[in-house]
Amino acid sequence: MKRIGILTSGGDAPGMNAAIRAVTRCAIYNGMSVVGVNRGYQGLIDGDMIDMTSRTVGDIIQRAGTILRSARSQEFMTEAGRRKALDQMVKRGIDGLVVIGGDGTFRGARALVDMGAPAVGIPATIDNDIALTDYSLGFDTAVNTALDAITKIRDTASSHGRSNVIEVMGRDTGHLALAAGVAGGAEYILIPEAPYDLDAICEGIRAGYKRGKTHSIIVVAEGVGGYHSPEELYHESIGFKIGDAVQERTGLETRVTVLGYIQRGGAPTARDRLLATMFGCKAVELLMEGQAARVVGVVGEEIKVFDIDEVAATRKKVDMDLYRLAVLLSKV
Ligand code: F6P
Repeated sequence: MKRIGILTSGGDAPGMNAAIRAVTRCAIYNGMSVVGVNRGYQGLIDGDMIDMTSRTVGDIIQRAGTILRSARSQEFMTEAGRRKALDQMVKRGIDGLVVIGGDGTFRGARALVDMGAPAVGIPATIDNDIALTDYSLGFDTAVNTALDAITKIRDTASSHGRSNVIEVMGRDTGHLALAAGVAGGAEYILIPEAPYDLDAICEGIRAGYKRGKTHSIIVVAEGVGGYHSPEELYHESIGFKIGDAVQERTGLETRVTVLGYIQRGGAPTARDRLLATMFGCKAVELLMEGQAARVVGVVGEEIKVFDIDEVAATRKKVDMDLYRLAVLLSKV
């Protein structure tokens, strides 16, 4: 293992740069050279690569996004495209690849491993929907970004006695909505994994006002309206549908905020930076040991290594105990 490639793929996430930095510096420390692949698997096919030095990754630990950029690649979904990618790895003398991203990223890594190229994955998505690991990079930062917005909205909602619907990201899972909603003290949290009764929610909002509440916060995961492509989500906001229904059924002024892409940015939290650093160095260690088709992760406070196929085959469940706790708290 003399030369390692790194790529980022899928939706970007705060912490990706910290992971790129850790992979690069751990590899260099162990006498290897590092190639950064721009634009994910498409950049691999195109040979769009840069030599990485310790300086290349200087001053990026605190930056969200990915200096290697990310892109979706239809071409990589084809055998011919994957063959081109492998040829580029051989041409550039890349002995092993670290891929940073989500499930789609890991499917790509599995395909390259099947063709003989060692690859290991680092979980990074604000959705936190990658199985077996407790956390994916970006989740902690996104929760805090959403929480900051919820707190700000609570201020104005109280001033005006309004209901506020806040739509958060999550593609088709409720991890982000649940964590931000509970931390933000939301009265209601709607997630794709749990059915909801809008009439009961509106009844509860009215009852809350009678008990002296001065506002109500409803956090909705974007996927509650059913899975949509990102483009479709943008125009099919479930948040506005819920907001219209709440205003109509309660007669209370209701406002809607779709947080959107601010959840993908923002300086990574200490937790995301620490996880990224540990994940990055572990990934390099695995490649040096000759391992492949692995995903690093964390369980509790322990860094773990998972089989990439097991990760892909498992759906990460939302913490329904936490969800039930949120429902309980909304009733008093
Ligand atoms: O998977 C991360 C994520 O931010 C989802 O929460 C969101 O639905 C999706 O990416 C948006 O995808 P894109 O960046 O391609 O619009």
